[in-house]
Amino acid sequence: MTQDPEKIRETLIGWFAASRKRILTAMAQPLDVAQKSNRNDLVTNVDKANQQFLIEHIKTDFPTARIIGEEGHGHDDTDLNGLVFFVDPIDGTMNFVKQQAHFAVMIGVYRDGQPIVGAIMDVMRNEVLSGGPNLPVTFAGRQLKPLLDLPLKDGLLGVAGPMAIKNRLHLGDVALASSGARMSGSAGMEFIEVALGRQVGYVSYLQPWDVAAGMAITQGLGVEFSREDGSAINLSQPGVVVAATPQAHQTILAMMAGKSEQAH
Ligand code: IPD
Ligand code: CA
Ligand code: CA
Ligand code: CA
Repeated sequence: MTQDPEKIRETLIGWFAASRKRILTAMAQPLDVAQKSNRNDLVTNVDKANQQFLIEHIKTDFPTARIIGEEGHGHDDTDLNGLVFFVDPIDGTMNFVKQQAHFAVMIGVYRDGQPIVGAIMDVMRNEVLSGGPNLPVTFAGRQLKPLLDLPLKDGLLGVAGPMAIKNRLHLGDVALASSGARMSGSAGMEFIEVALGRQVGYVSYLQPWDVAAGMAITQGLGVEFSREDGSAINLSQPGVVVAATPQAHQTILAMMAGKSEQAH
């Protein structure tokens, strides 16, 4: 069981390649789609099968690791001590069902609550974003540079649709203060946009498996992460995630606290 972050990254990318083949094969057949908590919260046979596939690999290669996976694995586990794998087997299930595109596979690896490695695969484009605090961040094999610290008004902002539309925590106002709001329907795809400098940030209510990989990867590029009140993100529970360049992050937090945006 390797502890080397670079070796763990290579292992994740190997699993992703195998997982992608299985997903593409499964997509050639009709999907088995079920509702979870509501009509917008779906799960398919592919989400379940891919989670099982990834869990088997984690158990074989990292037998002592704890696994928290979206489709009903380890949800009661709030102890983040030791090695923990956060697994989102299909991120953007609604896109997967409706578009057969714009969905991701994500794994975030943490030790004692601290990030080690994250990997996000854009399945249809066959591109992987990966990295960690002690690793270069790469996208499709190319090393990414640290991000420019753009202010909110000069960048596109990814937002959670319902939160922004209902102006919860002033997120609609925040979106209007950016160069433009984007809603991709996949947290993983949002983190890819942020890492590539195509978006100044992303704000959403997220579960631990939605944010673990993106946070492990993009902090090293200069992206700041916090809850809406500026507190640190604790991966033992869901909550609002504000991920943005330092300048944009500061403006977003001020606006979410009810202070008006001066620059707009
Ligand atoms: C969802 C997507 C979506 C975000 C939701 C997530 P899922 O993940 O990342 O963009 O807004 O909060 O639940 O359920 O498709 O893996
Ligand atoms: Ca889901
Ligand atoms: Ca998912
Ligand atoms: Ca997700």
